[in-house]
Amino acid sequence: MHNHYTGAFRTFASIVNTRITCLPQVHVAGSRFPTVPAAAVASPLAPLIHRWHRIRTMASSAAAASKRLEGKTIVITGASSGIGRSTAFEFARTAPQNLKLVLTARRVDALRQIAADITKEVGDGVKVLPVQLDVSNPEAVRGFVSGLPEEFRDIDVLVNNAGLVKGVAQAPNIAEEDMDVMFQTNVTGVINMTQAVLAIFKQRPEGGAGDIINVGSIAGRDPYAGGSIYCATKAAVRSFSESLRKELIATRIRVIEIDPGQVETEFSVVRFYGDKSKADAVYAGCEPLTPDDIAEVIVFAASRRQNVVIADTLIFPSHQAGAGVLHRKST
Ligand SMILES: NC(=O)c1ccc[n+]([C@@H]2O[C@H](COP(=O)([O-])OP(=O)(O)OC[C@H]3O[C@@H](n4cnc5c(N)ncnc54)[C@H](OP(=O)(O)O)[C@@H]3O)[C@@H](O)[C@H]2O)c1
Repeated sequence: MHNHYTGAFRTFASIVNTRITCLPQVHVAGSRFPTVPAAAVASPLAPLIHRWHRIRTMASSAAAASKRLEGKTIVITGASSGIGRSTAFEFARTAPQNLKLVLTARRVDALRQIAADITKEVGDGVKVLPVQLDVSNPEAVRGFVSGLPEEFRDIDVLVNNAGLVKGVAQAPNIAEEDMDVMFQTNVTGVINMTQAVLAIFKQRPEGGAGDIINVGSIAGRDPYAGGSIYCATKAAVRSFSESLRKELIATRIRVIEIDPGQVETEFSVVRFYGDKSKADAVYAGCEPLTPDDIAEVIVFAASRRQNVVIADTLIFPSHQAGAGVLHRKST
């Protein structure tokens, strides 16, 4: 199997490799490329050679990312759609030789389809296990790890992605049911899942090792009218992540927070109780992020050297500068 860059890398390498390796090497100050052959700088082949060096750099960083993930077991909550689904594919594409993915959500049929699609795309170096799990149910979360087949229990990375927003009601008209489902999924679910895997992480040397990757939101930093409960849940995720990072300071456990801005997924359809036209209006005139954009950041964070913690991220599309600060093109 191959990663993103190897195909292009091979093509360029086959064109210029023999010419480059027989030339003396010179360092170019300020260049991203470690060395460029001296004679090549002035050669008509220079643009091609520079491109080859750039691809070689990208290929080696992709190879390093792949190697760091190799052999790991990764649990993703809310993997049946949107960011969670994309994250599953991105992990599989980055480390296709040897990886275990546990995909969880309530819609297990969707998970089974995603598992089959991943295997079709990258082959069986990636073992994918679909598991039905409602993270808002503490009892289900308590039984989650012990219910996994032995070979999937040694979890290395937990992506706490499952989450939702319900409605745009403002106090005092917020339905108790919506309030409960948002807190139970976005907050209690994240905390319960984290506690379940921390028990595994803490058994490892140096006080413990593993990654907790929490998907927060711009909403947790910049609360807006009509989103008070959702914003409060994401602020809670942020506080929990920051406390946890401090509590785990003497370990190798990394706590990583990913805060997306506007991403087009099923998120707004869920917010408007299935009303697709209301959901579409949210993105009218905008160019939102795709779930793949966020997945790339999640996998990048998980595939850094163990001593590097991407503690915090805020990811906007270019038309956004705050929860309610969006430039809409007139249609
Ligand atoms: N889209 C955005 O603009 C945006 C922005 C910032 C942050 N986020 C955050 O990104 C995360 C992913 O959302 P998304 O945008 O990818 O939306 P999405 O397409 O609606 O995906 C949400 C996922 O969460 C799962 N989920 C919901 N309730 C669950 C429960 N009780 N137990 C287990 N899984 C549950 C859903 O699966 P099932 O229905 O199959 O259970 C689904 O897979 C959420 O935490 C969201 O708050 C989204």
